[in-house]
Amino acid sequence: MTNRKVGIIGAGAVGATAAYSLAMMGTCKEIVLYDIAEGVAKGKAIDIAQAAHYSPQPTIITAAQTPADVKDCDIVVITAGVPRKGDMTREDLLMINAKIIKSVTQDVMKYSPNAVIISVSNPLDVMTYTIHRITGWESNRIVGMAGALDGSRMAYQIYKKLGYGAGQIGTLVIGDHGQNMIPLPHKVQVGDVPVADLLSDEEFQDIIERTKNGGAEIVKHLGTSGYYGPGRAVAHMVEAILNDSRTVVSSSVLLNGEYGYSNVTVGVPVVLGKNGVEEIVQMTLNTKTREKFKTSVESIQEGIAILEKNGFFDN
Ligand code: APR
Repeated sequence: MTNRKVGIIGAGAVGATAAYSLAMMGTCKEIVLYDIAEGVAKGKAIDIAQAAHYSPQPTIITAAQTPADVKDCDIVVITAGVPRKGDMTREDLLMINAKIIKSVTQDVMKYSPNAVIISVSNPLDVMTYTIHRITGWESNRIVGMAGALDGSRMAYQIYKKLGYGAGQIGTLVIGDHGQNMIPLPHKVQVGDVPVADLLSDEEFQDIIERTKNGGAEIVKHLGTSGYYGPGRAVAHMVEAILNDSRTVVSSSVLLNGEYGYSNVTVGVPVVLGKNGVEEIVQMTLNTKTREKFKTSVESIQEGIAILEKNGFFDN
């Protein structure tokens, strides 16, 4: 990719942290931030641009005044959305965020028609599906950030049990980016050693539960969701795509027969490269994992059904 230009729509906690992380790595030539809240993109772009002064590689960081200024990007990251508030039902939140995603996606189609989209807004899998339906683009160009984060959370829990191997631990989490996610700690390695040889069943169970509650644990301490982990996970995916590194990262993608499902977006390992999703990696799942995957897929299909019921895709 020659432009190495990344647009970030939604310069909140995760969007801005992704921009900062990319700027510190010097991955992009240019990053442009847009946020509907006045001043947010501008203020953060100035701050990050000044931080980038001490980065090993220069990056131009600017704020867009309007969605039209997020143009000709190679990658657009969408984090725009609202968090769930007190009296909102899950369905209310779904409809509100889907409307935001629809309008943002229509802008991306207009102004960055060749981009790969990385979606971040929640509910992640359903929002990623929404982007597919709105754009009608080739499915490789839309990828949801989920497993990159959940996997790093799982690796962290494995490290805490072992006390060694930081940075050498696998990150395999599949399924939805919610309560039915499927961490697979017994499948990964630390260095070249299978973790299955190193931990007990009880320890695996604990790792799985803690991974699933990884987001909630941070909220408990901080009173707000994490953003360093999600921001870095987004940056990791951007790097794989811009560098065409063909890195395997679990991500939410549209299935077309893989794993036995179609017309649904769900987390599976994929190869990320210059075209976005270069390949969906097909693992063999045992019976128990297949059942869990089915539950996970069904929970996403329920979200999609709510959008269909409300006529969201009708015009
Ligand atoms: N266009 C552009 N930006 C928007 C729009 C819109 N239509 N609607 C909302 N935003 C912006 C908000 O102004 C806010 O700055 O999106 C940003 C979201 O940032 P935060 O509220 O800080 O949320 P964050 O923690 O960054 O999470 C981003 O990831 O985990 C998901 O569901 C979560 O949607 C959230 C996303």
